[in-house]
Amino acid sequence: MWGSMSERTPFIVGNWKMYKTVAEARGALTVFRDAVRNIDGVDCGVAPPFPALETCAATITGSDIALAGQNLYPGDEGAFTGEVSAPMLKAAGATHVIIGHSERRHLFGEDDTLIARKVKSAVDQNLIPILCVGETQEQREADETAEVVTAQLGGGLTKVKSAGQLDLVVAYEPVWAIGTGLTATPAQAQEVHGLIRDFLGDFLGATSAQETRIQYGGSVKPSNAAELLAERDIDGALVGGASLDPSSFAAIVEAAAG
Ligand code: 13P
Repeated sequence: MWGSMSERTPFIVGNWKMYKTVAEARGALTVFRDAVRNIDGVDCGVAPPFPALETCAATITGSDIALAGQNLYPGDEGAFTGEVSAPMLKAAGATHVIIGHSERRHLFGEDDTLIARKVKSAVDQNLIPILCVGETQEQREADETAEVVTAQLGGGLTKVKSAGQLDLVVAYEPVWAIGTGLTATPAQAQEVHGLIRDFLGDFLGATSAQETRIQYGGSVKPSNAAELLAERDIDGALVGGASLDPSSFAAIVEAAAG
């Protein structure tokens, strides 16, 4: 049960990916905001597409809902057509940013070197990175999950300080579970979350590792959220499809509150 093994407040973030116009984002977030207003013991946030960030920031004013970018490009500004920087995300109201999502890695060719620069850029601007890691089906079948996940973590964190306080969220998202309806079993997910916690212990020290929230992502729904979140090292969820409907997103937050 939550609270018995750790002090970590669960953190549920909706990753809206390339869904929702500004008006649709405002409408959905208004319903979600009102639905979660009285739910205690859980933190939540939303990562809308860039054009909707500012509207979403206005919609959540006065609530505890966090706002995240879905990506950034390193640096403050420059001739990088189509890219958005950490200071721009901050100015639009974001406090967090998703980095290294599997769709960025696999569809847009992002590697750990670029991801490390992005993490550093976020940290330098006091934006909290939500660093995503996860293995493909092929890698899992070849028994490479631990190696892949720790290499992605180590690679992504190479440019930030390796001990002490680092405001970071890690999201474990097995690629084979994203948007497929296939969910890792709670035991499968816990095994990898435990590995991630051990890695963070070596990298940050035991205290920071215990404080760092590790989200699970991949076909999280209202019906499976509670059993995943009951695992000791699963501290929240990064939710794609089920976060698009405000009532199912709110039901996941409710499940996380226990
Ligand atoms: P789904 O919840 O749609 O599987 O997506 C997970 C995800 O990629 C969240 O970042």
